[in-house]
Amino acid sequence: MMGKTARAADKSADRGAEKGVQRCIDSACGATYGLRERIYVCPRCGGTLEIDCHLVASGGATALRKRWAARAASRDPRDVSGVWRYREMLPFDEPIPFVTLFEGNTPLYHGPRSARYCGLDDLRLKHQGCNPTGSFKDTGMSTAITQAVVVGARTAVCASTGNTSASLAAYAGRAGLQSAVLLPRGQTTAGKLAQSLDYGALVCEIDGNFDDCMRLIQELGDDPSIYVANSINPFRIEGQKTVAFELMEQCLWQVPDHVVVPGGNMGNSTALGKGFQELLELRMIDRLPKLSVIQAEGAAPLARLFETLDLRQTAGGEHLPETMAPVKNPRTLATAIKIGAPVSWKKALRAVLRSGGKIIAVSEQEIADAKAMIGRDGIGCEPGSATTVAGIKKLVAAGHIRADENVIAVLTGHMLKDPDYVSQYHRGTLGLDSGRTDGSVPSRPIDGAFQNSPERVAANKAAILATLERRR
Ligand SMILES: Cc1ncc(COP(=O)(O)O)c(C=O)c1O
Ligand SMILES: [Zn+2]
Repeated sequence: MMGKTARAADKSADRGAEKGVQRCIDSACGATYGLRERIYVCPRCGGTLEIDCHLVASGGATALRKRWAARAASRDPRDVSGVWRYREMLPFDEPIPFVTLFEGNTPLYHGPRSARYCGLDDLRLKHQGCNPTGSFKDTGMSTAITQAVVVGARTAVCASTGNTSASLAAYAGRAGLQSAVLLPRGQTTAGKLAQSLDYGALVCEIDGNFDDCMRLIQELGDDPSIYVANSINPFRIEGQKTVAFELMEQCLWQVPDHVVVPGGNMGNSTALGKGFQELLELRMIDRLPKLSVIQAEGAAPLARLFETLDLRQTAGGEHLPETMAPVKNPRTLATAIKIGAPVSWKKALRAVLRSGGKIIAVSEQEIADAKAMIGRDGIGCEPGSATTVAGIKKLVAAGHIRADENVIAVLTGHMLKDPDYVSQYHRGTLGLDSGRTDGSVPSRPIDGAFQNSPERVAANKAAILATLERRR
């Protein structure tokens, strides 16, 4: 992607002084590049890049934990941010021109009803939808837009199912950069589109699906004025990985047995895997949680590939398959994860295999019911996020997760990103194509198994009390 980058010799000479390198994850290539090189895939082989940080826990793991804990009480903007608080782990040299909306710092809730629904004694929900623009994307956008400032870009661009655009538009606005977002026309929720407009992005509605938008982004990345902030961009992953650090602090450094995330383009799963791996390398944790990824059945290329893998041959993620068959026309109401050709699939697969987790798919009905159950716990999330609870229920039933294990579901987006979906579920009008296509495909109804439709009630106290009694 992004053509061939001529790398100046002086940049390479500088590399030793930087806080890390960009490294091609293809084991046959393994090429490294300086942190300031504006590349998004390996110019030598086209492989995916990741940042290899020169990590040092100066003073030891305990000292670093204490420093992070102390920062949580500080009012320095770098410490208020739930990303920049962990700056030792980030590939930026001081002074950092950091761009922040005070992302991170998201709650970890107990979900007793969701736990029972899954067959677990306890289940905790890490709600990344409580970020400034309502999704987990903000942690990675904070670092990606900071990097755009570092390399002197004029315009930040991304392709998106909606949340990345909203986040990019907000952070670019914060940094005073122009932003442009490519959205598949008619396939983004009104709330997400409204956010991008309000934060001042140029919104390009593309006649095509998300994967078409991604192809265009790859072509645009050649332009020197442009900075591509899709999750293929390894600086996004760096910000997103900090959720692993925050989570471990919230768990008082007791490693959970399982962490479960939704899978779309696979940036989030990659980032969590990287975060935990780095903590392990610094001996801040003594084992990895099993990382599992859940996709929607109609957009599940990696779950399909996972089913066919002989796990002994992958050697804990050392040997990865070369290719993954994409899903040409992904279909799901969980628009955030309606992605047929996830760009970060190799990095995510490696992280899952290393940890001993699984990648599975869940149906539209399972997603919808899990979402309603999370709602009953008083927690509102997007349909895409609810794949986690649906997936955990399946993994418990299959014996991969035991009832007494310590399990965390990562909720990625806020409920108000897609209120139409919620309303249709509770009114019993949700269908796979409900209100979202040109109507050429017949709608497949989804049962509102935990339906809570509004009641028409006469305007008097007695009528209200009678209705309450009936619903008790
Ligand atoms: C709410 C939500 N959940 C999950 C995902 C999937 O994350 P990833 O693409 O990093 O796999 C997205 C991506 O857009 C999202 O917006
Ligand atoms: Zn390479």
